[in-house]
Amino acid sequence: MANIVIIGTQWGDEGKGKIVDLLAADADVVVRFQGGNNAGHTMVVNGEQTISHLVPSGILQGKMCLIGNGVVVDPGVLIEEMDYLSGKGVACEPENLMVSERAQVIMPYHKEIDKAREKQKGKDKIGTTGRGIGPAYEDKATRRGVRFADLIDPEVFNRKLADILPEKNFYLEHYFHEAPMSREAIAEEYSAMARRLAPHVTDASVVVNSAMAAGRKVLFEGAQGTHLDIDHGTYPFVTSSNTVSGNACCGAGVGPTRIDGVLGVVKAYTTRVGAGPFPSELFDAVGDYMQEKGAEFGATTGRRRRCGWLDMVILNNAVRLNGLTGLAITKLDVLGGLKELKICIGYRYKGKIMDTFPANLHVLAECEPVYETIDGWEEDISGIDRYDRLPDKVRRYLDRIEALSGVPVQIISVGPQRNQTMVLQ
Ligand code: GTP
Repeated sequence: MANIVIIGTQWGDEGKGKIVDLLAADADVVVRFQGGNNAGHTMVVNGEQTISHLVPSGILQGKMCLIGNGVVVDPGVLIEEMDYLSGKGVACEPENLMVSERAQVIMPYHKEIDKAREKQKGKDKIGTTGRGIGPAYEDKATRRGVRFADLIDPEVFNRKLADILPEKNFYLEHYFHEAPMSREAIAEEYSAMARRLAPHVTDASVVVNSAMAAGRKVLFEGAQGTHLDIDHGTYPFVTSSNTVSGNACCGAGVGPTRIDGVLGVVKAYTTRVGAGPFPSELFDAVGDYMQEKGAEFGATTGRRRRCGWLDMVILNNAVRLNGLTGLAITKLDVLGGLKELKICIGYRYKGKIMDTFPANLHVLAECEPVYETIDGWEEDISGIDRYDRLPDKVRRYLDRIEALSGVPVQIISVGPQRNQTMVLQ
């Protein structure tokens, strides 16, 4: 398939980084279309781990990487990441790494407001990463955002900053009781970064569409997961952007007719970071087993992830919302050693069975998972590289996922390394 969108089907951290890295080998261009440096992609190549938060995972494959207009970008983080990757011998030149001139810039006051707001909320906090992502999207929606086209034009940038900062400082001082920010300091810091990044700023939509017109393959790399989508996720415990596949079009500047397929990345069990209802969550030794064996700590925040059984209500919600054409099942190796496995096939709510995902979080919090139990497997499958060599019980688990979702399993991942992957025809 030529142009594919890759998205997470659950609550993020499904292992999209590894799958994008793998598929990027066969692509020409990789584009990020939403989110910011709250994503954390972990790629392991030849035993060496590389974590990227902003730069598309395709960078390790030497592909052209684009940060689309739908992304909110902290220029300091982008520069840090470019330096980190260059230090590892990975080229980050204007020829292979570009940012849309329409992408929003995360400003220092976005980060301060993000942190101050979470601090003020105390125990009711959303659990944001404090990186200014939400406040930057707010300013985009209220048309007070600074875009990369503005950042690299000193006159426009200084005018915008002078316009916006007094209001931000008023909030910081009088509402959050924090110190106001200095316009001069921001202008100085951001103008230096603008000079460094200017050669990378481009019309990303033109670049992507020209690449497609020339018959080159484009991979659209989603961050977070479907159930963190601002419209379709467990609002308000969500991220500030649309994470579903449809946003690949808005966030990269391409038409829907250009997309050939949507691959949903599914962790073989479910995890969730931070607050919010999670029906198939486990509070027992099996949950601890998944957490420890799967090393379920966030790549960006280091927070411990909550773990539970695979939830088909969630997966089927993702199938519908994203129009999935294929599944990539990750971390299947983690389930090895469990005597039996459960798959949540519905929710029981007030005595009735539901098979769709409720919008009302109070309803969701009261949903009891309905499970189907199947045999687990004892074997360590992390060294298996062919589908027909997988134990029968593993294949039965995969067959069940296919049957319950109606979507073919196309990729199976049994470890963090690139070579611990099976691509099915
Ligand atoms: P977000 O965009 O932030 O949601 O990240 P992500 O979906 O790319 O996931 P992330 O890289 O944060 O987490 C996946 C973790 O699992 C990483 O540490 C990977 O190296 C690891 N991983 C990926 N696939 C497998 C697998 O099949 N088995 C095991 N054991 N680990 C895996």
